[in-house]
Amino acid sequence: MPTNLHAWDALQQHHEAIREQQMRDWFDAPDAGQRVAQFSLEAAGLYLDYAKNRVTPQTLALLMQLADEAGLNERRDAMFAGDQINATEHRAALHMALRALPEAGYQVDGAPVMPAIQAVRERMRDFSERVRGGQWTGASGKRITDVINLGIGGSDLGPRMVCRALAHLPGNRLRLHFVSNVDGTELAETLSRVDPEHTLVIVCSKTFTTLETMANAGSARRWFLDNGVAENQLSRHFVAVSTNVEAVRAFGIDPANMFEFWDWVGGRFSLWSSVGLSIVLALGYDAFAELLAGGRAMDEHFRTAPLPANMPVVMAMLGIWYRNFCGMSTSCLAPYSTSLELFPAFLQQLEMESNGKSVQLDGRRVHAHTSPVVWGSAGTNGQHAYFQMIHQGSQIVPVDFIAPLRPPRALPGHHAKLLANCFAQAEALMRGRTAEEVRAGGTADDACVSHMVFDGNRPSNTLLMQDVTPHTLGALIALYEHRTFVQGVIWNINSFDQWGVELGKLLARPIEAELNGAATAPHDASTTTLIARARAALGSA
Ligand code: F6P
Repeated sequence: MPTNLHAWDALQQHHEAIREQQMRDWFDAPDAGQRVAQFSLEAAGLYLDYAKNRVTPQTLALLMQLADEAGLNERRDAMFAGDQINATEHRAALHMALRALPEAGYQVDGAPVMPAIQAVRERMRDFSERVRGGQWTGASGKRITDVINLGIGGSDLGPRMVCRALAHLPGNRLRLHFVSNVDGTELAETLSRVDPEHTLVIVCSKTFTTLETMANAGSARRWFLDNGVAENQLSRHFVAVSTNVEAVRAFGIDPANMFEFWDWVGGRFSLWSSVGLSIVLALGYDAFAELLAGGRAMDEHFRTAPLPANMPVVMAMLGIWYRNFCGMSTSCLAPYSTSLELFPAFLQQLEMESNGKSVQLDGRRVHAHTSPVVWGSAGTNGQHAYFQMIHQGSQIVPVDFIAPLRPPRALPGHHAKLLANCFAQAEALMRGRTAEEVRAGGTADDACVSHMVFDGNRPSNTLLMQDVTPHTLGALIALYEHRTFVQGVIWNINSFDQWGVELGKLLARPIEAELNGAATAPHDASTTTLIARARAALGSA
């Protein structure tokens, strides 16, 4: 029980002791430079400035004590050892093996996993080279120009985000499309933009049973058949990524065209596996290998760096501080990079599906808040939408600013403006603006002064990378994966299952049958009314 740990109590008391302290006073002190030196870290090509947080050296020391008391070192070692840390599903969580070198010793159930990983990597390389090189063609012998990834959640968000982030790389040769929603609009609009003779579909699903993906795969299949591709030629247009060979076969995809992964890879941690096939097709295998190398560099840092100098641990524990001791219920991710615009959506699944839990490993309730609401979008757009609330709203929202120091695509003057705004937001949040400063700025209208005051003392991290490269992106993703894991350890929850997605799926099945005309079943009055309205509109009443 995390709340029973000594450090938990100590942190509560410590919070009472420092809650009125102002970050701007710390920065105005003569030794402020020391604060930055003390509260910054470099790892795997990333620089983290966490000086603008409401923490003192003692806060950090207590947070590290909490991590230690929660058994972080042991739990981290268990994860790297391939133990079944996903206890409810009796599985390891060994995504680090997917980005490891072939000679690494990762094992699951006593068996080495690297040979199988390496074999799939080779197949991904070979297949992608044939598609990109034009040797793998559609049924009519035409070159593949468009690839559609059909998948949802972890089978969509990761590869979609990576392909977006690295779209500036020169190796981009194919047009990638991602379709996730069961709303037919998404697939129909995508199909209207591509030519079946030139299109390859990846059906990407760990289970190969997911409603959305299977519905989209079925409709894509019909589209090919309706557009002149013969049934026995479909194999030129469909490949599968899955752990479920039987379901792949049953759908009609030859297992020879299936890229395998394993049940010890959680969906939201799977972009490093064959789920990354779309990335390899888009960017080429070498870029994917660099992505893996970046993730691997962060794994090595996370595995070996002492807790206080460990970037995922420090970021995780700052999150714990705000969530559990300062009462902050949301956290914002603001990448100042259009390339990274999909990172917040990826992180929502990573954090909220992993740590949005209320019971501990042993099934007892967690008597502490777990995952905050994670949200955000690319800067500077957010500044003109919701940053008002972050600066002056009644809730305090910790922000992670992420920025590449050099632009993926340069236009004169733009990047300095972008970075200036990023740094200015963090400075404004920390420093705020007093009534005296407003007046000194020459405000004409005295009645407005209080509206122009910023309380400040609002926390943020700033995470910098030199460029958005496959390597830095890999490190960034792995950083947040491990940060998520560490928080799960503190809350003593299983970060690798997702039972909370099941009930809605279960209830949707009979409702779908009712919408399609089956006899209505008893529901609550509200749901009954909604179903009746839909049946009337669909003509199934
Ligand atoms: O419903 C949630 C979920 O199971 C996610 O955890 C997963 O990433 C997503 O659905 C897709 O699952 P699959 O890859 O099996 O289609």
